[in-house]
Amino acid sequence: MTEPRKLFIKTYGCQMNVYDSERMAEAMGGQGYVETQDPAEADMILLNTCHIREKAAEKVYSELGRYKALKAEKPDLKIGVAGCVAQAEGEEIMRRQPLVDLVVGPQSYHRLPELEAKARSGAKALDTDFPVEDKFEHLKARPKARRGPTAFLTVQEGCDKFCAFCVVPYTRGAEVSRPAPRVLTEARDLVERGVREITLLGQNVNAYHGHDGGLAGLIRELAAIDGLERIRFTTSHPNDMDDALIAAHGEVDKLMPYLHLPVQSGSDRILKRMNRQHTADQYLKLIERLRSVRPDLHMSGDFIVGFPEETEEDFQVTLDLVEAVQYGSAFSFKYSARPGTPAAERPLVDQAEADERLQRLQALLTRQQRALQDAMVGREVGVLFEKAGRMPGQLVGKSDYLHAVHVADAGARIGEIARVKIVESGPNSLRGVLV
Ligand code: SAH
Ligand code: SF4
Ligand code: F3S
Repeated sequence: MTEPRKLFIKTYGCQMNVYDSERMAEAMGGQGYVETQDPAEADMILLNTCHIREKAAEKVYSELGRYKALKAEKPDLKIGVAGCVAQAEGEEIMRRQPLVDLVVGPQSYHRLPELEAKARSGAKALDTDFPVEDKFEHLKARPKARRGPTAFLTVQEGCDKFCAFCVVPYTRGAEVSRPAPRVLTEARDLVERGVREITLLGQNVNAYHGHDGGLAGLIRELAAIDGLERIRFTTSHPNDMDDALIAAHGEVDKLMPYLHLPVQSGSDRILKRMNRQHTADQYLKLIERLRSVRPDLHMSGDFIVGFPEETEEDFQVTLDLVEAVQYGSAFSFKYSARPGTPAAERPLVDQAEADERLQRLQALLTRQQRALQDAMVGREVGVLFEKAGRMPGQLVGKSDYLHAVHVADAGARIGEIARVKIVESGPNSLRGVLV
């Protein structure tokens, strides 16, 4: 028997890329590849890339540069670029870095086996189509191996919102939903293999329309699967949070009390220029409605500071909005002009000022995050144990609110959900004891 070929995948960007990397590894498994964690022993290196900010995209080229020596040593090594940089830059990648053999976009990676064969034959292989066929239907059934207790499951892809700063509508294409029966089959299959928590993924996951009842309808059907204990979804757009989904947060026990709902800015003037199609007040009202059905809901969000024309007053109202919401966690970024987006045409704000705003916002968000985490001390929460901790007998898992929780002498198993009393709050995690 010949040695299997080895595949090294490095993943950047969002959770959907994590899911896609899994599916690409599975597709390459059909070609006789096994995964390795060491690029030096790989026969193929695949970078699954992100184009969202300039820094993310540039990382890809510095990483590729690092593989020059490997390729010189091992001429048979094939190097591929997948994901959103592949979609955005296509052939340009091979021009800029000639050691790249293969470029595949996020909507055509079911064709990876053919592309790999083409690259093996010595030709350059490129596919950045938005094919009409459903890539998931063309990927082989997922292998039956046991899995860890949590999994991502992509149910929706693409975006029709065209926020003025964002590349996603161009790299991922128009909104498409996977039909509910296929999602349910994949979910049951994951549960049979040990998965207890599923996070439904979509660039605008709450715009899901593969079920008559929308995302709420899909969640209610998933909740009926025995053995599936927790459901989460990400990322949502405020304008797609419909009544049914709000109601589900109050009624479906398995739907976890944590919601990532990006707002980007608290200033209506900036929201308008961002083409977000909602006001700060509409966002706050929405959270009020959500909290009226689920008072303990932990909110998470995304913010951009230094968007073109953002003034100190605009920024102040963003801080006010953050004060009003009290986030359990949040991500904030300095605006990065992306080629091809409408905002890229507009002049940048003073960059030193933007950096300083980002620091102030992050300090506030960190304080809130820590306050909500500290408030868990003394409370009982559900924890799904995901892995062994550093100390013998210790287990680490996630609370219902997505806090990392360490439990010593857990006497429980990975994959189990236990009631845990929180006794201490550290910088990045909680410590608890079984009740
Ligand atoms: N679909 C999701 C977000 C996808 S991108 C949504 O609408 O919320 C994830 C986050 O990256 C965004 O929420 C935004 O905060 C940030 N982002 C996107 N484009 C950016 C840019 N050009 N500069 C800085 N941050 C950006
Ligand atoms: Fe980008 Fe806006 Fe679409 Fe989110 S909703 S993916 S930020 S265009
Ligand atoms: Fe990045 Fe593409 Fe995700 S640009 S954030 S990898 S959708």
